[in-house]
Amino acid sequence: SMNEPLKVMISGAPASGKGTQCELIVQKFGLVHISTGDLLRAEVAAGSEIGNKAKEYMNAGRLVPDEIVTAMVTARLSREDAKQKGWLLDGYPRSFAQAEALEQKQIRPDIYIVLDVPDDILIDRCVGRRLDPVTGKIYHIKNFPPETEEIKSRLITRPDDTEEKVQSRLEIYKQNAEAVSSTYSSITNKIDGNRSKEVVFEEIDSLLSQVHNEKGKLIKPE
Ligand code: AP5
Repeated sequence: SMNEPLKVMISGAPASGKGTQCELIVQKFGLVHISTGDLLRAEVAAGSEIGNKAKEYMNAGRLVPDEIVTAMVTARLSREDAKQKGWLLDGYPRSFAQAEALEQKQIRPDIYIVLDVPDDILIDRCVGRRLDPVTGKIYHIKNFPPETEEIKSRLITRPDDTEEKVQSRLEIYKQNAEAVSSTYSSITNKIDGNRSKEVVFEEIDSLLSQVHNEKGKLIKPE
């Protein structure tokens, strides 16, 4: 096929802004957003077998076993929409074994983006985060308050967003970060994520546009 859609991985500590940037990337580039955190939370909400297994790990701020997450991601990546439109993988791989699983299937991104944010800022972002269960939109009580009273009244807090659990998630991220990024060192772009979301997106936008031009194909937004 002449189609060469973009394949993007976005990584970074808990609350570094992956989900927030993914909303903007999807709007502009029309990629299929695959967030393992979102997929797992949907399984938990549905009370599925995967969800029941994953729940205890997630609520404790620990990683869900590799085989569960890897099966979920490879199934999602092999669907037709991801092949046609390209994909944006968010929150995976998170361990060396997960990166290896993709390498073995010859699934490689064009670019590996790492959002870099200082620890104290990450804690504040997690503790203040709220989610809209209806639209899936991400808010923050100070940084991005909800637009209306109606939205405000239905916002929920993630059970793993307490200060204690964020510390644990951050530790686990730091333990794995180097091993995972070593797999992608030649295509890694580290971005200062401690700026406004618009400014961070401008930098990501220009990187992706560059990669996309190099691939020589126009990606149409949805
Ligand atoms: P996951 O959902 O992936 O959580 P995470 O990596 O900890 O990332 P977050 O969702 O917390 O943060 P984010 O970077 O998306 O930030 P956001 O944009 O929301 O995973 C959850 C759990 O699932 C894991 O702990 C694990 O148990 C399991 N799991 C998932 N993937 C797995 C895997 N591969 N293997 C094993 N287990 C797995 O922003 C955060 C807040 O900051 C928001 O309030 C937002 O409004 C605000 N904000 C964002 N950008 C800015 C900005 N520029 N300025 C100011 N505020 C901002």
